[in-house]
Amino acid sequence: MDRKTLFPLLFAALFSGAAAPLAGQDAPLPPLKEAAKGKFLIGTAVNDWQMAHPDAPEARLISRHFNAIVAENCMKCQSIHPEEDRYDFRAADRVVRFGEENGMFVVGHCLIWHSQLAPWFCKDESGQPVSAEVLRRRMKEHIQTVVSRYRGRVKGWDVVNEALLEDGSYRRTPFYEILGEEFIPLAFRYAHEADPEAELYYNDYGMDVPGRRDAVVRLIRQLKSQGIRIDAVGMQGHMDLDYPTLERFEQSIRAFAAEGVKVMVTEWDMSALPFVTHSANISDTAAYRRGIDPYPDGLPDSVSRRWNGRMRQFYDLFVRHADVITRVNVWGLSDKDSWKNNFPVHGRHDYPLLFDRSLQPKPFVRRLLEEAAAGK
Ligand code: XIL
Repeated sequence: MDRKTLFPLLFAALFSGAAAPLAGQDAPLPPLKEAAKGKFLIGTAVNDWQMAHPDAPEARLISRHFNAIVAENCMKCQSIHPEEDRYDFRAADRVVRFGEENGMFVVGHCLIWHSQLAPWFCKDESGQPVSAEVLRRRMKEHIQTVVSRYRGRVKGWDVVNEALLEDGSYRRTPFYEILGEEFIPLAFRYAHEADPEAELYYNDYGMDVPGRRDAVVRLIRQLKSQGIRIDAVGMQGHMDLDYPTLERFEQSIRAFAAEGVKVMVTEWDMSALPFVTHSANISDTAAYRRGIDPYPDGLPDSVSRRWNGRMRQFYDLFVRHADVITRVNVWGLSDKDSWKNNFPVHGRHDYPLLFDRSLQPKPFVRRLLEEAAAGK
């Protein structure tokens, strides 16, 4: 080999792989999906901009690293079914197509949820709650239209989202107020009729809390005893530096798995900012104060180390339960796009995701990729 060939090769070897990386170059490392291979699917939530710009670095990073996707917003009722006689499938179609073109497992989020619900859905023309009969008909029509449009293509659905409270009772949503507990089995039945092959999930946040954990267990038993399909429980996994404990999260993984369903971590992110609320109910917001946005220019090393260490502990926990955890899905690609910048306080600078604002993998992610490269 002459010097002209050797020098660039030596240079590349020195500055790639395990050595300190050059900015913007993670190409020599394997993708995350390689690191998670044989353990679980690794997914992300995608936004409309990313799907409308498939050649931009964001979309390329998504298809390189992830083998599952879920729409962050565009399949929610208010987006996909804004008026009773009008659906808007444009953004959702792009997500499904992108997923298919990249060989990904596409998840639908979500069919029945009290938030981001189209305003007309549970009301009549005079703004009063509709009757049980009308709501049943609307739920059926909505679920069956959306699910059958993507039949065979969307492989699993978050059928009901966030219906249970931490004390184990039902959240007082319009669905519950009008239909009572029946709305959950109904939603699962309608979804199953529309696509008998699709997996069906119950999804919620704060799943480590014992009261909600027990309520979810009761729900699984109830659905199963009625012969209704439920494949998995989605544990959203919105975390921070102190919450939840690994122990309680693990207890819930075990409790759900013991009921014979799969477990999915569906909306994983970890805020690095001071605690405001553990609720992921998107209407539980707080006012902005300077003290609760302490790192507008970047995360101090000490906090970053804590964040990376804790993310790794959770990742390892998921790996230890890979026999029941079939998908680990983060809630967004990079810190710049995370919903946590605007929730529960608008306009903060948070650092909750696997890729930073310059689309570089965080240290714990880089470590996972390096370990995969080394065959560990
Ligand atoms: C969030 C989105 O990330 C935001 O863009 C949107 O403004 C509000 O909803 N639980 C869920 C998700 O199930 O759908 C929510 O997503 C976050 C909490």
